[in-house]
Amino acid sequence: MARKLSTRKRPERSEHMLKEQLKIEEGIFDRRTMMSLWKMFNHNIITKMDYLISTGKEADVYLADGGSQINFDFVALKIFRIETSDFGKRIDYIRGDPRFEKVKKDTLSIVTTWCKKEYGNLKVAELAEIHAPRPYYCNGNVLAMEFLGDSNGAPAKRLKDVVVDNPKEVLDTILEDLRKLYELELVHADISEYNILMWNGLPYLIDFGQAVVTKHPRAMDFLERDAANILEYFSRKYGVVMEHEEAMHRIMQKKD
Ligand SMILES: Nc1ncnc2c1ncn2[C@@H]1O[C@H](COP(=O)(O)OP(=O)(O)OP(=O)(O)O)[C@@H](O)[C@H]1O
Ligand SMILES: [Mg+2]
Repeated sequence: MARKLSTRKRPERSEHMLKEQLKIEEGIFDRRTMMSLWKMFNHNIITKMDYLISTGKEADVYLADGGSQINFDFVALKIFRIETSDFGKRIDYIRGDPRFEKVKKDTLSIVTTWCKKEYGNLKVAELAEIHAPRPYYCNGNVLAMEFLGDSNGAPAKRLKDVVVDNPKEVLDTILEDLRKLYELELVHADISEYNILMWNGLPYLIDFGQAVVTKHPRAMDFLERDAANILEYFSRKYGVVMEHEEAMHRIMQKKD
């Protein structure tokens, strides 16, 4: 008698490889992060984790290979720390934003809300058609977005680490993007030479977690600070000087 064939579906080779890879990652990521990464694999957002691009206090950014849902070879994954996170102080940027009024106070809720908030803010940036990474997917504490970098997987450099030969144009582009964002009622709230990447000769705004809607009680303070930071940087590094009032006027100007 012929042996009965098992009815159990054999896992695809790629799925097997992913599981193997995740076993390796298990030593690096906590269980919740692993679950979010697994969802990213299952939704065909990513097919493989590549390497760490940047490590920070609250988040690490990884390069991953793009899955069939993504039209590009690479995806940037921003993984917010749960265990060691110091998000408590960020509650000010969440409360006062009517989109996230009801967040609970525990660390996990704050971190996942922060991740959702960055995703939502990047969606607004996309709608405003500014230079910023396109958001792909958000699950738990993991945000998948467009990778800004070259075809070999080298990430774009921060504005801080390059010398541009057209600083006046770069500043104009940044202010115009802040205007488009403001027109859609969003203030970035952490603009600096650290949160702008130079990609294909253009400045791209990143790190949107703390961005707030213009209804937020401190939105104007944050906008003033963004303008002051960027003007100070261009004046100090390039001698490109603009009055604070002029920059604020540009950002708050309505165009149709
Ligand atoms: N979409 C992207 N494409 C390429 N590189 C990116 C992307 N997003 C972030 N990076 C890289 O990761 C770094 C950190 O990203 P980001 O500024 O969003 O995190 P962060 O919130 O400042 O992290 P932390 O505050 O913990 O340092 C950036 O300076 C940049 O080098
Ligand atoms: Mg940053």
